[in-house]
Amino acid sequence: MKAIEVRNPGQGYTLVVAEIATPKPGPGEVLIRNTAAGLNRADLAQAMGGYPPPPGAPATLGMESSGEIAEVGPGVTAYRAGDKVCALMGGGGYAEYALASEKCLLPIPKGLGVAEAAALPEVHFTVWTNLMDTARLKPGESVLIHGGTSGIGTAAIQLCVARGHKVFSTAASEEKCAAIRALGGHAINYKEQDFVQVVKDATGGRGVDVTLDMVGGDYIQRNMSAAAIWGRIVNIAYQAGMQASVNFGPMLMKRLSLLATTLRARSNDEKGVIRDALLREVWPLIDAGTIRPIVDHTYPLAEAAEAHKRMAGSGHIGKLLLTM
Ligand SMILES: NC(=O)c1ccc[n+]([C@@H]2O[C@H](COP(=O)([O-])OP(=O)(O)OC[C@H]3O[C@@H](n4cnc5c(N)ncnc54)[C@H](OP(=O)(O)O)[C@@H]3O)[C@@H](O)[C@H]2O)c1
Repeated sequence: MKAIEVRNPGQGYTLVVAEIATPKPGPGEVLIRNTAAGLNRADLAQAMGGYPPPPGAPATLGMESSGEIAEVGPGVTAYRAGDKVCALMGGGGYAEYALASEKCLLPIPKGLGVAEAAALPEVHFTVWTNLMDTARLKPGESVLIHGGTSGIGTAAIQLCVARGHKVFSTAASEEKCAAIRALGGHAINYKEQDFVQVVKDATGGRGVDVTLDMVGGDYIQRNMSAAAIWGRIVNIAYQAGMQASVNFGPMLMKRLSLLATTLRARSNDEKGVIRDALLREVWPLIDAGTIRPIVDHTYPLAEAAEAHKRMAGSGHIGKLLLTM
């Protein structure tokens, strides 16, 4: 089968189409004939040599795909060949075929094409578990989402708006802010405005209950300033830096929680619990058209390098996809 391989991992990496063996599904796994695969920022980090796949995952890139089940492994009874699914996987998504655990499969929502559904798994697994399990977001609470036009951000804004939360969200340009407003969020152009001040002004000085952050660096301190009493701040990345000089006083005075998680290295059992929550709470909202995948651009598999260039430049709004 054709798959994308990384050559010269590091700053100057290249992506090439290689011919590799089609994998065989093991116990509890299915083999998906991919229609599309989603890009994720972590794929760029992996290609640069900084984010190896978890043990047992293929070395080739790609953490999500959609398509039709070609073969089921031993013990799989809930799915069969021909079922159309989208899936989260530890690696190997940028290929004609990919393996996924049956615990990480979701159906194609009503009204969506199979390819579009490749935009859903990684963002919804991540957003749900971080906002609901980690930050324990409660009805009526307000939320601050940094990187509002990232794949993650566009999913998080829609989920929070659909569940009735007041949403503040940051982005780097007016075009990106317009996209945030179109999704129902209160946009903050961080190049021109101080998000702490905007949040304070809009909440009568109270601050936000939950912050979903992928920036880190100096945002670590500023998120504490923007937080309400009993606020929870959850980091899913530290794109602006993992180190900061921080005054922890606000943690004590405002009774804050500072949290951080990654999804990829978790067990399939743990991911299966998140999958079940998505089926129950999020997929009905996608079926109803309340939440939709925001797709910036779709590229043929052979143009994976172009897709990576677009993501590295941060000009995109929403997800980038590869089609087989
Ligand atoms: N922990 C986990 O389990 C987990 C799971 C999935 C994703 N993530 C992380 O979540 C983030 C979003 O993922 P994604 O795939 O949705 O990414 P993406 O679409 O490429 O979006 C990343 C966005 O971050 C914003 N950004 C802010 N500060 C930045 C900086 N210093 N450098 C680069 N970009 C910056 C950019 O928007 P502006 O132009 O508006 O600044 C950019 O569009 C990534 O960092 C990813 O690694 C973590």
